[in-house]
Amino acid sequence: LISVRPATAADRELLIAWMAATLEDLKGAAAGDPWFEGVTFPAEAAEAHVEEALADEGPLLIATLDGAPVGYLEGRIELPYVRESPIGRVGHVALVRVVPEARRRGVATALLAAAEAWFKARGLAWLQLSWHPWNEPARATWAAHGFEPFRVFGRKRLA
Ligand SMILES: CC(C)(COP(=O)(O)OP(=O)(O)OC[C@H]1O[C@@H](n2cnc3c(N)ncnc32)[C@H](O)[C@@H]1OP(=O)(O)O)[C@@H](O)C(=O)NCCC(=O)NCCS
Repeated sequence: LISVRPATAADRELLIAWMAATLEDLKGAAAGDPWFEGVTFPAEAAEAHVEEALADEGPLLIATLDGAPVGYLEGRIELPYVRESPIGRVGHVALVRVVPEARRRGVATALLAAAEAWFKARGLAWLQLSWHPWNEPARATWAAHGFEPFRVFGRKRLA
């Protein structure tokens, strides 16, 4: 049975470990991406990030599978990149991670559904998130949930 609940201060240590694991997952999925080369994620950075996320309005959600915590989602409300858009504020899902042993069992689906409900309850009509094109599990998950790419970043090395 999958359940989703808001994170609390009691989840601090778990979230700190999961944040660091998320960076490792993304680094692994993005092998060869210069942005990740040489990146380390000191414990203090994870701690500071979790402190901020716990203090923010949210959503910061924990999923449990048969009572055991197995994943989290961190989101926030922000403006679309077209600041003048009459759409106003949009939901943003910044981070989602499910522990490897619990993947492909609908945990991310449950977290996303809870986040969608959270944003909708606050009157938001749009939700955005981003993924690396080579992160196939992420690409497939977001595509399966109706997310469409809408903006492509480009970069080139100058030096
Ligand atoms: C991406 C991630 C959060 C998905 O979590 P999950 O709990 O396994 O996802 P779900 O079980 O809810 O999957 C829902 C649907 O997404 C698609 N999907 C999920 N993982 C997939 C994969 N590895 N390959 C293909 N499709 C996949 C499927 O359509 C799946 O439905 P199905 O299992 O009935 O076929 C998980 O793989 C993860 O934590 N990855 C590491 C961290 C990460 O990359 N986060 C996302 C950053 S943008």
